[in-house]
Amino acid sequence: MSAHIPVLLEEVVEGLAVQPGGRYIDCTLGGGGHAAAILEHSSPGGQLLGIDADRSAIGQAGAALASYGDSVLLVNDNFVNLESIARANSFQPVHGILFDLGLSSLQLAAGERGFSFQKDAPLDMRFDNSKGKTAADLVNSLSENGLARILLEYGEERLSRQIARQIVQNRPVSTTLQLAAIVEKAAGGRHGKIHPATRTFQALRIAVNGELDNLKSALLQAIGLLGFEGRLAVITYHSLEDRIVKQVLSEESRDCICPPETLICVCGHKAKLKLINRKVITPQAAEIKRNPRSRSAKLRIAERLMKSNEKFVSIGRYYVLTEVKSSGWRKTSVRRNLQKEVLTM
Ligand SMILES: C[S@@+](CC[C@H](N)C(=O)[O-])C[C@H]1O[C@@H](n2cnc3c(N)ncnc32)[C@H](O)[C@@H]1O
Repeated sequence: MSAHIPVLLEEVVEGLAVQPGGRYIDCTLGGGGHAAAILEHSSPGGQLLGIDADRSAIGQAGAALASYGDSVLLVNDNFVNLESIARANSFQPVHGILFDLGLSSLQLAAGERGFSFQKDAPLDMRFDNSKGKTAADLVNSLSENGLARILLEYGEERLSRQIARQIVQNRPVSTTLQLAAIVEKAAGGRHGKIHPATRTFQALRIAVNGELDNLKSALLQAIGLLGFEGRLAVITYHSLEDRIVKQVLSEESRDCICPPETLICVCGHKAKLKLINRKVITPQAAEIKRNPRSRSAKLRIAERLMKSNEKFVSIGRYYVLTEVKSSGWRKTSVRRNLQKEVLTM
């Protein structure tokens, strides 16, 4: 099985400002490549909470990160439950949170998961294959209009109507190769380097896993878990998810989000973030050459701002972060004092 090569690795470590003794959450653990780099740079004393909806990713990353012992805590869950996962494990506030969205090379290479049209397999595509509807369930039950909408919205597929019609005419569709052949026929064969089924597979994967629905909520939860000057790093691979990330980060870095025509602010919204990179970070040519799957990656980084009256609630206790703010949250001694204080509260 081909290993997953972590994308924009140095940029992520730098963007998260990983420091010894820091506490980090990797919301998309995958093969554990980013997690390992974060643990390396946060040593000694660093801690990492890794989350993945895919049970096999937890198993594989668990083996890869075994040498870090109890500095690592892995949870098999959807990141839409981020806040409750962090609370249940007393893992807040944190110094940094990473989202590296989409699917890993491990999942793509595992033919039986149904993510790839290169291998014949049942049309599944669930990150968590223990629950929820499969891609086969969707293609065999949705109306032609419903299918076309998914292909257009999540795949930005120009031929959404033709493909949806072909799918409906050829139901039941149960395997990856069957679906790929139907799409290829609807597209009138192959043109250029990109397989005509690429967008259809992307669209179905996004729909099956509710990828866009979960993202905004998870990002807002992440912002709430960051300590003063904590960093959020998000890597996206297509414009739909990047648009959501850009919008959330932009809104959360503004003091007012009233419509532009409003003369006096009525929303009362306060900025929780400062944008670290105004221009999106993309891989260098050398990385794309080494790892072609990185070519569409976009990295955005933001830093948590903290108002003087903000507090963290943790298992019924309060972390008062104004103290951390005045003493410098990034200093290990301060963090130790804070932990002592919390333990004795
Ligand atoms: C691009 S891979 C991450 C690779 C990882 N950064 C590495 O270095 O190996 C994305 C991972 O996120 C997981 N994932 C995607 N959406 C998720 C969600 N909503 N909740 C939890 N995990 C999710 C996928 O199962 C996949 O393993």
